[in-house]
Amino acid sequence: MDKPMPETGHKKFYRMSLEERRAYLAKKASLSEGEIAALVGAPGLSAEQADHMVEDVVGVFGLPLALAQNFLINGREVLVPMVTEEPSVVAGASFMARLARSGGGFIAQADEPEMIGQMQILGLPDAAVGRMKILEHRQELMETATKCDCILEKLGGGARDLEVRILNHPAIGEFLVMHLVYDVRDAMGANAVNTAMERLAPLVEKITGGRVLLRILSNLADRRLARARCTILLSELAFDPYSPQHVRDSIIAAWAFAAADPYRAATHNKGIMNGVDAVLIAAGNDWRAVEAGAHAYAARSGRYTSLSSWGKDENGNLTGVLEMPMPVGIVGGATRVHPAAHAALKLMGITTARQLAEVVVSVGLAQNLAALRALSTEGIQRGHMSLHARQVAAAAGAAGDQIEKLADQLVRENNVRLERAEEILREWKKP
Ligand code: MEV
Repeated sequence: MDKPMPETGHKKFYRMSLEERRAYLAKKASLSEGEIAALVGAPGLSAEQADHMVEDVVGVFGLPLALAQNFLINGREVLVPMVTEEPSVVAGASFMARLARSGGGFIAQADEPEMIGQMQILGLPDAAVGRMKILEHRQELMETATKCDCILEKLGGGARDLEVRILNHPAIGEFLVMHLVYDVRDAMGANAVNTAMERLAPLVEKITGGRVLLRILSNLADRRLARARCTILLSELAFDPYSPQHVRDSIIAAWAFAAADPYRAATHNKGIMNGVDAVLIAAGNDWRAVEAGAHAYAARSGRYTSLSSWGKDENGNLTGVLEMPMPVGIVGGATRVHPAAHAALKLMGITTARQLAEVVVSVGLAQNLAALRALSTEGIQRGHMSLHARQVAAAAGAAGDQIEKLADQLVRENNVRLERAEEILREWKKP
């Protein structure tokens, strides 16, 4: 997406009807009719397609697919598809992306796509000698690993490093762990890494005389971090009845709570993952892998803490940074076979895995800000309430523009109940 589209014509995107939003998507996105259909047509995946993805398929399971607005990432406009069942997540991301625009949007970057494969080697009489033997064959092992995937090799991927550690556990005594650092280019990399590790195992057994047990990717992808930062101008932070300084300082204080306390950090990071996972799911990626890496990374100092940090710059503006492992791919896996995931990547204008990582981490930062801003001021229930009110209005029988009008009234009256909604509708129907 190259054209700016913070606002959507006369009407804000969230005020549009479902049909209007779809028409907007068709007009703005450079997608084919088939790709649009894959995004908006229920359920974006046929049972036949699903049958090729996992075993024992009986059907498909739908979730809301929404488009987050206002994201400016590295100077590029991005319409962000998000799949989530949780109210307020998409609205929060869009709103914070709008606030971030005044400070230049999100600046994001991702490391080289280097994943780590692990190999556990048991049964060595002398672990230190075994370690030395592996390191003596480092070059040969790396070359063998690179040759495992000739497509990756052709694309410039392959083994980058090899390390060996001696670990000890009372249940098994000393053992070796070999790490192979593998550049997987635009793949998430689990398949490539696992294949390479399995291929290397007999060679390592021959070299060490030991027995290889596990050969598997590590989800603590700390060689493949993505980071985003944003600046929210002080002037953007005020809202009734709060001063901008109050909002800024409250957000920083709320972050400090997470930085200091694992109980709070778990919830704080969950808020980040609300955004991260929603984009990952839309893009057909393995969100559990990113979740696992995120939480392990958050505990890397030995104490679980916040993945983000918030502070202020010399002009008093609010600044935020998020850095976390981001093992994502745009080739292979569901990205290839899931038509909606394929269309989602195209919608975001993504051509490399690193770009996807940059978008995902930016959305995570926006999501974190949305939660902190709400929590440290009015609380999150008010935002939830207006969405809940729309659901109640629809359940009471309101249709079209009535839904918004009725929801507004329910929130104003601070009485978001079905009976009240029905009563108001009856009043409106009276001649
Ligand atoms: C709810 O899904 C996420 C939050 O709890 C995140 C947070 O507390 O920072 C609102």
